[in-house]
Amino acid sequence: MCGIVGYVGRERCVEVLMEGLKNLEYRGYDSAGLALQLEDGIEPLKRVGPLVNLAGAVGDLGGRNGDFFRVRAGVGHTRWATHGRPNEANAHPLLGGEGGRVAVVHNGIIENHARLRRELEARGRVFRSETDTEVIAHLLAERIEEHGESLREALACCVRQIEGSFAVAAVSAEEPETIVAARHQSPLVVGLGEGENFLASAVQALLTETRRFLVVENGEIVELSAEGVAVSTLDGEEVRRGACEVDWDAEAVELGVYEDYMLKEIHEQPAALRKTLEGRITTEGEVDLSADLPEPFIEGLREIERVVVLGCGTAYHAGLVGKHALEKLCRVPVEVAVSSEYRYREPIGDGKTLVVAISQSGETTDTLAAVEAAREYGGRVLAVTNTRGSLITREAEAVLLTKAGPEVGVAATKTFTTQLAALKLLALQLAHLKGLRSAEELLEIGEALRLVPEKVEHAIELSGDATRTAAQAFEAARCALYLGRGVSYPVALEGALKLKEISYLPAEGYPAGEMKHGPIALIDESCPVVAVLGEGLLREKTLSNVQETAARGGRIVPVAVEGDASASEVADHVLWAPEVPELLWPLVASVPLQLLAYHVAKGRGLDVDKPRNLAKSVTVE
Ligand code: M6R
Repeated sequence: MCGIVGYVGRERCVEVLMEGLKNLEYRGYDSAGLALQLEDGIEPLKRVGPLVNLAGAVGDLGGRNGDFFRVRAGVGHTRWATHGRPNEANAHPLLGGEGGRVAVVHNGIIENHARLRRELEARGRVFRSETDTEVIAHLLAERIEEHGESLREALACCVRQIEGSFAVAAVSAEEPETIVAARHQSPLVVGLGEGENFLASAVQALLTETRRFLVVENGEIVELSAEGVAVSTLDGEEVRRGACEVDWDAEAVELGVYEDYMLKEIHEQPAALRKTLEGRITTEGEVDLSADLPEPFIEGLREIERVVVLGCGTAYHAGLVGKHALEKLCRVPVEVAVSSEYRYREPIGDGKTLVVAISQSGETTDTLAAVEAAREYGGRVLAVTNTRGSLITREAEAVLLTKAGPEVGVAATKTFTTQLAALKLLALQLAHLKGLRSAEELLEIGEALRLVPEKVEHAIELSGDATRTAAQAFEAARCALYLGRGVSYPVALEGALKLKEISYLPAEGYPAGEMKHGPIALIDESCPVVAVLGEGLLREKTLSNVQETAARGGRIVPVAVEGDASASEVADHVLWAPEVPELLWPLVASVPLQLLAYHVAKGRGLDVDKPRNLAKSVTVE
């Protein structure tokens, strides 16, 4: 959940580390810190709270000491606290050794830290924080001071002792202009430059610097200097690996004309959807994923008898939407499971089970563990992810990338709708292979899917003012209820998640038909009801639930197909979305709910991009 960054090369270390941390802040913002290699040792600098606090300290220190901005090597960290409260002592870097001559930044959890700490304390090491990470700093210092090892050798020895998940980077005063790093289960990439090299938890930290990356694997140590990058095994054997190029733009992580990343990313949805559909669907509406999925995997899809969809949070909601298309078009039973539950369930399946693991980051610990559980019974795993080269892509048999580009706002928006598009593509491909639906029917849905980016564009136009006005109904609200049926039910769940995570208003998503079985007791004028209507028979039924709600004094905010007169009859402010075939309705209906949550949170003066307590990548259980 934390972000780490490293730089070695020219006299621009502070600038590069701060820019890298800015682009990794979505991973945690409880505190931030730097460890800089000065001529006479290591200078740690840490501040509690968001990065702007550290930036202030950097400005002050740089003003007093010109050498500060001439530093050539260092590491940085942005923290989401796991062990120990967010205070300065617990902020990274953590120091070890005589006078703090070793500094460490870490993302992950060291599970055996308590035992290691006891042992190190018994050997005379003095701890100054409550973190699990500090054991790494002391283990390194001990190997260097007492065994005369190099930083690389010390880290290899340390990696053999620590258990859990980690991406760790360290600097030592004894080895100027050198960074060493290793990882196990947490992501780590090396960015390659000319006369300078970089390190980060994710490529978006470094897009302004380079497009050439090396992915570090479990059980490897990397050593960075200005001149080069050496990768080796823990035993010191050299590892040779080619660099890969990424095609994300640096502007993708800039705010541009927008006030917040969330707003920017909501508006990027049409372009993100176009990219996700491009090359995978013809102008006639025929879906062809052969450029994405290996031939044997596609062939295997014909034999599939059951589908399991795994994900957490928004990705789980995408899975619930996907279930409708997969069951309707492919006539296979689909189970959608929350990864953190599935991983401990001794799940049932076999080689005829298609396992669709959805994760925008590709590094969510629970989803990775759920995939492992599915692989044990022989499930055929397809990863749907936004992150090329991420951990999940290495665990899966096949990968279907969503092409939303980097998402910085903690609340998922464009990655959700592109996940929905990817799942529709999958359903159409599987339906074609299974041959249970007529070609005409599939082409018709495919053609409508191809036009979805324009529909989403229209949904954004329709939603701007309407959602700002509807947000007023939430000014004095103490909670909110989101209702829907069929494909609109997961849309309601996702709408409620968006509201609660950025506005801190308790919000529940419910199947509309369940309302009378309990939640109706919540209804009064301080509990607005967002009703996702849509089309068809289920729309009528939801409408009658809405009327029951209105009769009990509830304030209704319907999300309806543009021009639906009955929606206007139940409420003053309707959130309109364009007409599309029912299976595609979640793609357009989600847009007003994203904007509604955005305006409610902004109205409360909250930071929509960095909601409290959250981090975008959840790399711990
Ligand atoms: O990276 P993932 O898609 O695996 O993340 C899963 C959830 O943590 C994520 O969808 C989360 O619920 C959203 N950021 C909420 O908006």
